[in-house]
Amino acid sequence: MKSIASAPAKIILFGEHFVVHGTKAILAAIDKRVTVTSAFTDNKTIKVNSQLGTIEVPMSSSHEEVESEFRPFVYLANEMITSNQNVNGLEITINSDIPIGVGLGSSSACCVAATASISGLFKEVSSEENLKMSIKAEKTIFPDTSGADCTVCTYGGIIEYDKINGSKKNTDASNLNLLITNSMIPHSTKRSVEKVSKFKEDDEERFSQLCALETKLIDEVNIALKNKDLITLGLKMSENQKYLEEIQVSNDTLRGMIGSLKEISLGAKITGAGDGGCVIALVKDENLDKVPALLGKDKEYFSAKIDTNGVEWEKEK
Ligand code: MEV
Repeated sequence: MKSIASAPAKIILFGEHFVVHGTKAILAAIDKRVTVTSAFTDNKTIKVNSQLGTIEVPMSSSHEEVESEFRPFVYLANEMITSNQNVNGLEITINSDIPIGVGLGSSSACCVAATASISGLFKEVSSEENLKMSIKAEKTIFPDTSGADCTVCTYGGIIEYDKINGSKKNTDASNLNLLITNSMIPHSTKRSVEKVSKFKEDDEERFSQLCALETKLIDEVNIALKNKDLITLGLKMSENQKYLEEIQVSNDTLRGMIGSLKEISLGAKITGAGDGGCVIALVKDENLDKVPALLGKDKEYFSAKIDTNGVEWEKEK
């Protein structure tokens, strides 16, 4: 028997980094997916196959003993094995069309899909349980995660993430035309988040002002989304980028890309951790043809569609 689950990639429209420190954020799930297939084996091992390689470790191995990219899978396998009798081995296979390490939520989507896939071998779990477990799995590689990425990968659509008061789906934003451009510079979310924590430590007062500005910006974004006011949304993206510049998660390449897209976009910003990864821009469809000339051949780009399904699971006999 195979248990197969998939989850979407994500972009952060507003609020990355500040969300780790308690502010709200607005995120969207997009139409790129990771699929995780799990099956029982008789090999007395946990085997993980992915584009990053294959590992096979004894069932008794802890997730801390394996390379960081495999930790969430070994963690999840262990959790299931210890709470269920008679498991003689597990094989977990990951197939993904989400670029890795560029801010599109590849590791969160993997954690969400792997939780559904592995736990699905034993029983169907609710989205809420799946989310809780996937955040624990993500913490094995990234202890400070806000949980926002796993949340949007679980529920899909556009969400306003609010750790304190609960997240809600936003249905006002389905008409957004978002261009995603990849700087092709890989980054480490963990390192960027640590860097921002250091910024906060060094200047608590300014950081708390920036959190207040981000909160105000998100309130204004919600009004703009309701009014389908794309001009204001674009302006708010550029304003959010200024805050991200100030906390030093931008660089010359990202600034260059945002500058190049200026003539065809209403606004553009980093999405995700920054220091590389992707830039998102609000553009009109008729301007998409102009992108290659503006960005140069060494950058990838695509137009994102919103995924409204979130995590999906099926069982195969
Ligand atoms: C990474 O996609 C988003 C960050 O805000 C980290 C987090 O929310 O866990 C940088």
